[in-house]
Order: sequence, then C-alpha cells, then structure tokens
Amino acid sequence: MAKEKMILKINNIEVKYHEVILVIKGVSIDVPVGGIVALLGANGAGKSTTLKAISGLLKHEDGEVTDGSIEFSGKRIDKMSAEKIAKMGIVQVIEGRRVFEHLSVEQNLKVGAHMRKFGKSIKDGLEMVYNYFPRLLEKRTETAGFISGGEQQMTVVGRALMTNPKLILLDEPSMGLAPMLIHEIFNIITRLNQDEQISILLVEQNAKLALNVAPHAYVMENGRIVMDDTAEKLKNNQDIKDFYLGMTDFGGRKSFRDVKHYKRRKRWIT
Ligand SMILES: Nc1ncnc2c1ncn2[C@@H]1O[C@H](COP(=O)(O)OP(=O)(O)O)[C@@H](O)[C@H]1O
Ligand SMILES: [Mg+2]
Repeated sequence: MAKEKMILKINNIEVKYHEVILVIKGVSIDVPVGGIVALLGANGAGKSTTLKAISGLLKHEDGEVTDGSIEFSGKRIDKMSAEKIAKMGIVQVIEGRRVFEHLSVEQNLKVGAHMRKFGKSIKDGLEMVYNYFPRLLEKRTETAGFISGGEQQMTVVGRALMTNPKLILLDEPSMGLAPMLIHEIFNIITRLNQDEQISILLVEQNAKLALNVAPHAYVMENGRIVMDDTAEKLKNNQDIKDFYLGMTDFGGRKSFRDVKHYKRRKRWIT
C-alpha cells in the first residue's frame, strides 16, 4: 500500500495504563483513505487499546500513548482530547454494543448527532441511518434496553453514523450475534464504506468474517503486530488457518507463536 494516501497512520506507538502497565509495544498500522483494514487477534492482544489510543478514549482509562505518533489526515492526534478527535471525524464503536438502555432507539441515534456540530442535519442523519438499517426505523420508539442484541449493535453503529464520520473504529461488531445478523451487519458495513466513502478500521476475533470484508489485515498478539498482509494471502497462510480460521470454539487455544513453533517442530520430526 506504499503509494496510497493514508487517512490514518499509526507510527510505532507504545501505550501504557496507569504509567506502568505496558500494553502496546511498538505498533504501526496504516488505513488508506476510503479503505477497510482489519485488526485481528485473540482476546487480550491489545486491539481495543489500540482503537482507544486513536479515538482518545484511552485518557479516560488512565492510559497514554507514551511513544510513537498517530496521524489523522496528516495531523498529529495522539495528544488531543477525545472530544477534539471526534470533531475531526473519527468515531469509535466500542465493544459490547453499549446503548443508552433507558432511551428510545431514536434518542440513542440523536445522541450521536450532538457529538459533532457540523455536517448533516439531525433529520438527514436519521434518514440515512434508517435507510441503511430499516429495522431501526421499525424500532425507533422502542426502549433500547429491550431490543435484540443485533438491533442494539445496529443502534450503536447508527449512532456512530450520526456523527458524520470520516473514519469509524469498529470494535468486534460480530461478538455474540447470530450468523444471519452478523451477515446483515457486515453487508451494511461494506455498503457504508463503498457508498459513503467512510474509512473503517475493523477489530475482530472472527478472522473469517473480517478477511471477507477487509482487503488488508494486521494480526496482533501480545501488544505487537506479528503479521500484516492482504486478506487473500492471510486466508492462505497456514498459521492463520491453524489459529484463526475454521475454529469452532475458543477454549484452550494456543498462542499464535505456539502454533508456529509447533508447526516448525513437526516439520523437523517428519
Ligand atoms: N484500563 C486498563 N487498565 C489496565 N490494563 C488494561 C486496561 N484495559 C485493558 N488492559 C489490559 O491491556 C491488555 C489488552 O487489552 P485489550 O486492549 O482490551 O485487548 P483486546 O481488545 O485485544 O482483547 C490486557 O492485558 C488488558 O488486561
Ligand atoms: Mg477488545
């Protein structure tokens, strides 16, 4: 991707929580303008922390980018407040589909519009969200705490859309959802990227899904990027296949490095 223009450049960042807990240890990620990039990795690898470093939400958890830099459209943002970063056009959809449970679906969406003071009117924003998520139009007056998990995920993505973003940071949108709904949500994510030219950094544990929508992906383990390549190459990479693809349960799985190690040893024996 060397010649493409980047909307986001993460340059060798280090992130610490509470000044001492080193969680991200020299991570670099590029997202091209109008692109979708996936960040894969097992639980605890540091994916959410990376997204929070970009959106500035890290500061609310006593975390800090202690080395390296993050550039958005060529501007340094790693020392900016979350509010300022949001105004520039970056929105994070945090994991766990956190809706405001006591508000209606439409009130949830309107909260997004107030996070950014320019761009589309609230009415136009709602129209766009309901166009992508017709289910939300049906549920617009319902209390967000009582709609299904899939609808809650749609609500939080819709809320992010209401901020009129240039870059969406999506944290595990498939988590805990039925396959049909996952399919629906990922279709919409692809359309948002293609039709609205929104760039997307997609965090997923589900590599199969992510590699189907993102042409390029990074694999993170233990706070470091251990591999990055085109989706096509990653899908055919034996280590990725062993560790991330075709897995049915999450119990007792080895680390990515263990898989590599194990494979190497096996080759020596045979
Ligand atoms: N607020 C925090 N304070 C201290 N450590 C944290 C905090 N948030 C996350 N961590 C630690 O950082 C590591 C990476 O977490 P996280 O970024 O949530 O990983 P992932 O999203 O890949 O599952 C984990 O070891 C986790 O325990
Ligand atoms: Mg996470």
